[in-house]
Amino acid sequence: MAKDLEGISQAPGALPIVGHLFPLLRDPLRFLKTLPAHGDLVQIRLGPQKAVVACRPELVQEVLLHDRMYDKGGPIIERIGNALGNGLASCPHSVHRRQRRSLQPAFSRTCLREYAAIMTQQIDTLAIGWSDGQDFDVAEQMYTFASDTIAQTLFTAESAGPAVDTVKECLPDIFRGIYQQAVFPPWLSRLPIPPNLRYERARNRAWAEVSKTISMYRQDDESHGDVLSMLLKTQDDAGELLGDAEIHAQIMTLLVAGIESTAVALTWALHLLCQNPDVQERLRTETVKVLGTRTATWDDLPRLDLARRVITETLRLYPPGWILTRTTTTEARLADAVIPAGTTLIYSPYLIHHDARFNPRPDCFDPDRWLPDQQHMRGTFIPFGGGARKCIGDNYAMTLATLALSTIVAQWRFLSADHQLPHVEPRMTLTPHGVRARVECLQGIRTGSTATV
Ligand code: HEM
Repeated sequence: MAKDLEGISQAPGALPIVGHLFPLLRDPLRFLKTLPAHGDLVQIRLGPQKAVVACRPELVQEVLLHDRMYDKGGPIIERIGNALGNGLASCPHSVHRRQRRSLQPAFSRTCLREYAAIMTQQIDTLAIGWSDGQDFDVAEQMYTFASDTIAQTLFTAESAGPAVDTVKECLPDIFRGIYQQAVFPPWLSRLPIPPNLRYERARNRAWAEVSKTISMYRQDDESHGDVLSMLLKTQDDAGELLGDAEIHAQIMTLLVAGIESTAVALTWALHLLCQNPDVQERLRTETVKVLGTRTATWDDLPRLDLARRVITETLRLYPPGWILTRTTTTEARLADAVIPAGTTLIYSPYLIHHDARFNPRPDCFDPDRWLPDQQHMRGTFIPFGGGARKCIGDNYAMTLATLALSTIVAQWRFLSADHQLPHVEPRMTLTPHGVRARVECLQGIRTGSTATV
């Protein structure tokens, strides 16, 4: 915990014992946006603990690029470690390079191309499942779609079905629990109150099912050509096979880090297209020209330019990973302030993306700001973080979201089913609730991925 943060201004409104708990639970986005007015570095309080928020892109970059000095740590990372084991997203710098090397091959271009075939099949199932005039909860549909797709790439064997279903069911409680436990004062996170019990139960159920699946894969000795099979064959630097605990942590990490963030990004993108029918129409023109009536595939990606810009702009407006933490391992100097070892540092893609000094008209949805001739200041777009801890699934997520969005929009018109703004729930991701859409079928005969244009 930070001992002395002299010279770093404090955000107003902290209460004794609970600190900034109430604004962080009630309206964290509004709270974050107020911080840059108090300085480039601002202190906030998570219960009794102090934390420093970096409010300028170059300070965030400095933190991200010096991952030994600003190591993974702080309450959110501690909770992730507790929920998932010490996998790639939460492990300390000392083991990170080794872990990253063991997982990186699963995200190579060759593998992504193979995953894209699974994505296309899943998009087919999604887009065929609606009927003309149907209205539905977009977040729910995108969650099921993202979890089925990501789970299929991690483990393709039929025996993994129960684990996929259980993890899908448990993830929302795990996500909510990680954020709540991180902002609760420690005494509150230990009490047997319903939110804590729900979190523990969900974590234990998911944990047990993934363990069972690993044992089954080990027993049947057959390679399924998926990420779990690859991890079971991976040797570490000393030539040893990875142990069950590490494989378990990596699988849980990929499920948790991948599913919800991708589902949330697609939900926001569809919400924004409902709110901006002109952009939806332009996107439809592009995608129908490229795809006709078929489902998008890997080879279409270079021609789905506007779809990619819509996703990029969505990630700027609503970055799913909106608040992330680090801990200083030694005394550090940042923006002329001396920060003692053990201080929690916070960076927020949401805060940086919504600061008008770095992103003009920050609240306006404008995919054209990502046209190649537009200038962007370095470090002002960070939905996937940066430096050595940058998201390993960034290209996976962009591929999945671009293929899904372009296919959906070519075949269906999305209209808001109610005109309420979504309610944003502060959990580990920026999760929208109440995004209801009505769909109109645009193509009488749907033929799926095998059809020709
Ligand atoms: C739109 C979708 C996604 C977003 C916005 C996103 C965002 C992020 C961010 C911001 C980080 C850095 C966290 C930090 O600095 O502390 C991160 C790390 C990570 N992400 Fe993603 N992510 C997405 C999709 C995925 C997918 C699909 C996967 C895997 C299937 C994935 C796996 C990971 C992992 C394993 C890390 C830790 C990397 C490391 O520390 O080396 N993410 N992600």
